[in-house]
Amino acid sequence: MSTDQPAPYGGADSGAARPSGTTPEPLTPARVRTVHLQRCKDRGERFSMLTSYDAMTAEIFDETGIEVLLVGDSAANVVLGRESTLRISLEEMIVFTSAVVRSVSRAMVVVDAPFGTYEASPEQAVGCGVRLMKESGAHAVKVEADASMADHVRAMVSAGIPVMAHVGFTPQSEHALGGYRIQGRGESGSQVLEDALALEAAGAFAVLLEMVPADVAAEVDQRLSVPTIGIGAGGATTGQVLVWQDMLGLTSGRVPKFVRQYADLRATMTEAVRTYRDEVRSGEFPTDQHVY
Ligand code: KIV
Repeated sequence: MSTDQPAPYGGADSGAARPSGTTPEPLTPARVRTVHLQRCKDRGERFSMLTSYDAMTAEIFDETGIEVLLVGDSAANVVLGRESTLRISLEEMIVFTSAVVRSVSRAMVVVDAPFGTYEASPEQAVGCGVRLMKESGAHAVKVEADASMADHVRAMVSAGIPVMAHVGFTPQSEHALGGYRIQGRGESGSQVLEDALALEAAGAFAVLLEMVPADVAAEVDQRLSVPTIGIGAGGATTGQVLVWQDMLGLTSGRVPKFVRQYADLRATMTEAVRTYRDEVRSGEFPTDQHVY
């Protein structure tokens, strides 16, 4: 066995006995797997997930130690410039996901099942999941679901597909839900909890909660044994996820309230490209340094 791999998480599958009462080892598996996310939940630790759709961002995010990369159907908006996440195909998701999978060595790669490719029946969901995993190399599949989709999730899990269930605001249902709206306010909070419990019972290894009140998300996290991942769901979930273009400031216009921008890439790129254009015009670029 190679000895230059990072140590797996401490605990049962590390093969190393740890004396009781010592501090847990850092979360540094050679490959993040569902078991490691579960261990975060069990230990009360947090993990982070970020979207990625291409080789270069995947490589950078993987090197930073982000545990999970999501090839979201948000690619329809942020990569392909379409107005809705409904408008992306299985084949397109496979192309983006293959690029991400090829570029990471440690992060778990989760791919979104796109609208219209899995909802019709458990059989269709299995077919979709198998194609996504087999043709892209993804490690897990995310489906937007509610309790009525529990059989779909159960069938996928039985077929060997690790499933992340996405509840609360589910963008593929934006037209059915009446637009981008917070879900689970007031009485309907119990519906979010019921959906999450049903999908956990069906075998989902994690439940993603989008745009639900923080107290509802906290209760879901408390009631579920599997990890929860929040986006606009407060700070009590096991993990957090953001769309990278939002959190790095590449997105134009307003970003949702739940986003923190950690950089202003749009300003940085605009400034750099303007300088390049000006220097080409003025003849300052290229110089002797740049010629053969
Ligand atoms: O497609 C996506 O980026 C997502 C996140 C918003 C969770 O599903």
